[in-house]
Amino acid sequence: MSKIFKAFKPLDWVLLFFALCLLGAQVYCNLTLPEYMGAIVKYLQMGAYAHDLGLFWKDILINGGIMLSFVAAIYVSTILVSYLSARVITTVMSRVRHNVFEKVNNFSMKEIGSFSIASLITRSTNDVTQLQMVLIMILNVGLTAPITAVWAIIKILNLSSGLSIVTAVSIVALLLLVAMMFIFVVPKFKKVQSLTDKVNLVTRENLTGIKVVRAFGAEKMQEDKFDGVNTSLTKTNIFIHRVAGIMSPGITLIMQGTSLALVWLGAYLITNGSIDFSTLTEFTQYAMQVIMAFMMVSMLMVMIPRGLVSGQRIKEVLSSTSAITDGALQHQPSMKGTIEFKNVSFKYPGADDYVLKNISFTANKGETVAFIGSTGSGKSTLINLVPRFYDCTDGEVFVDGVNVKDYKLHDLHNKIGYVPQKGILFAGSVKENIKYGNENATDEEIEKALKISQSNFVFSMPEGLDSHIAQGG
Ligand SMILES: Nc1ncnc2c1ncn2[C@@H]1O[C@H](COP(=O)(O)OP(=O)(O)O)[C@@H](O)[C@H]1O
Ligand SMILES: [Mg+2]
Repeated sequence: MSKIFKAFKPLDWVLLFFALCLLGAQVYCNLTLPEYMGAIVKYLQMGAYAHDLGLFWKDILINGGIMLSFVAAIYVSTILVSYLSARVITTVMSRVRHNVFEKVNNFSMKEIGSFSIASLITRSTNDVTQLQMVLIMILNVGLTAPITAVWAIIKILNLSSGLSIVTAVSIVALLLLVAMMFIFVVPKFKKVQSLTDKVNLVTRENLTGIKVVRAFGAEKMQEDKFDGVNTSLTKTNIFIHRVAGIMSPGITLIMQGTSLALVWLGAYLITNGSIDFSTLTEFTQYAMQVIMAFMMVSMLMVMIPRGLVSGQRIKEVLSSTSAITDGALQHQPSMKGTIEFKNVSFKYPGADDYVLKNISFTANKGETVAFIGSTGSGKSTLINLVPRFYDCTDGEVFVDGVNVKDYKLHDLHNKIGYVPQKGILFAGSVKENIKYGNENATDEEIEKALKISQSNFVFSMPEGLDSHIAQGG
């Protein structure tokens, strides 16, 4: 979690501290309310007031007024806490999302391959949202509920031990309910996230391969594949919600049962003379607070593991390091335009066999060097070793006489003009796309590039260089 905590800035901690103070005040008000209620009931019961109506109204009005102002304070503080927690957590989570994006941007093909693109997308969107939801919930109820529970329990123990036992029984019933939830549901959360990965994978695969799917009339096959993962995800979610569905009526049953038992036993105790009516009123209110607090805690016990699963998945991304990192070279070499391979061998991460074995050659400045070979013979793989998309397994690759591993990646890439097998256009204008290669390119240079690549049609587009193109063009 420390990776995620790093996204909190000092201001966030200050705002959180402020929210905590408000929450403290809330707990205090909530727990003092029943005392005033008890006092009012007591005044109403006391015959003495029959002689002095002025005093009677005064006491009730004062106590009632205090209760009203407490309720108003709770109301305002609840709004403020929701605002503060939402503000802090959403900004922090947007920073986490940024960090994940930045991290993934620096990943080599090896890390991207081992996480899979689909999973990286889920991790930087869905998982961050899950974690955000849980953190906001923890802030709003997770901190106050345990304090309220303990405090309220201390208060009721002093009021009546008989009634306390009733409350204790309800709490045990509630805990049993939560334990059941915990055992059945929590293991499913991890499954939900990995199934979401799969849904993403199939969706992405289908969209990128849409032409192949159409050409082979494989729509039905793709749909079946999608239905497969979709159904597993749905079934898992339905299971979780079914078990969660038992929770709510269960909790209502426990609460109503407790009220009933309290009134029943309370009536007996009052007739008995052990307690008076105001104690029962006060007690019932505290008991409800205890049960509510336990309910909140139990809901959190179910939500927290869900947040932990997502937090763990985000952490995995943030804490994995790229296999390909900057070298230490400070000065650019004087030699220009040569590429040399020395006994280069390469196998893909996780593969058993070498794709390239003992390749040695030198391409000098001004020469045109071509690799000829059948499909799958390793031509693209060989080229990918120059910009370090992959590092060679054995041997060395030199650009301008310097090992590619010694360059800073940015410097190395600046030396290379790379035309990928498949052209990729990003959403934006024609100009923006051409500027990917050189941020400072002038319009003349861009036009020259367009002419060289025979993209003369751009000039006849209505907005010319500023024409908008969609992703993929
Ligand atoms: N990302 C990858 N992971 C594992 N194996 C790969 C990967 N890319 C290519 N290969 C394998 O490496 C071999 C060479 O591929 P490639 O360099 O693309 O061939 P060419 O460009 O000459 O057609 C092939 O057998 C291919 O299956
Ligand atoms: Mg190729």
